[in-house]
Amino acid sequence: MLGEKDIGKKLAGEQAANEVQDGMKVGLGSGSTVYWMVKRLGERVQQGLKVEGIPSSNQTEQWAKEFGVPLTNFSQVDYLDVTIDGADEVDENLNLIKGGGGALFREKVIAEAAKKFVIIVDQSKVVTQLGAYPLPVEVLPFGWEMAAKSIEALGCEWKLRRRNNEIFVTDNGNYILDCDFGMIPNPEELHKQLKMIVGVVETGLFANMADKVIIGGRETTKTIEA
Ligand code: A5P
Repeated sequence: MLGEKDIGKKLAGEQAANEVQDGMKVGLGSGSTVYWMVKRLGERVQQGLKVEGIPSSNQTEQWAKEFGVPLTNFSQVDYLDVTIDGADEVDENLNLIKGGGGALFREKVIAEAAKKFVIIVDQSKVVTQLGAYPLPVEVLPFGWEMAAKSIEALGCEWKLRRRNNEIFVTDNGNYILDCDFGMIPNPEELHKQLKMIVGVVETGLFANMADKVIIGGRETTKTIEA
């Protein structure tokens, strides 16, 4: 049986998939909310919907194949009609923290490439200000310790992400630093400062990018547009 959060994820994911139109090129985000979106999209493809997707992680690629969503890539298409993705936090201005699953770099690529960026979350992800969730920052393995020192100097405590006692390695072969900055009053400015640091590949701050957020509750969804 699904818990309350999972019901919200499922409702939001399915609604986003139901809004995809015939012929669209779709950016497929990552995470457990996206799972429901890809599953529903696959059902619609079986019913005749024509779409092509670009996945943002190996896991999403696997789900797309499992559910029968046709895939493409950036050597075949030069834009996406819509990208649908989850988030770890969404603030009142639709700024986001993403990267809890470690797919933030490819997620940012498909978000940038899309005419419309739609976020699907359960109610628990909505916050007044970003920052309770530690900010994921993807760094190159070589000299990551130096990058970490520079990030720390911006005022955070960081942890190198591990999984099963091993260093977590992203689909791009990089590491993730989970950075606790406390509350983040200016996400765009912090993102810019982090991107200046040698070795930082991408940050999980998605400032002024989302066009629409679908929030799944226990029985219904609510939509906020930028
Ligand atoms: C993946 O790297 C993340 O950005 C996810 O989109 C985010 O963590 C949301 O994941 P869930 O839908 O699993 O909560």
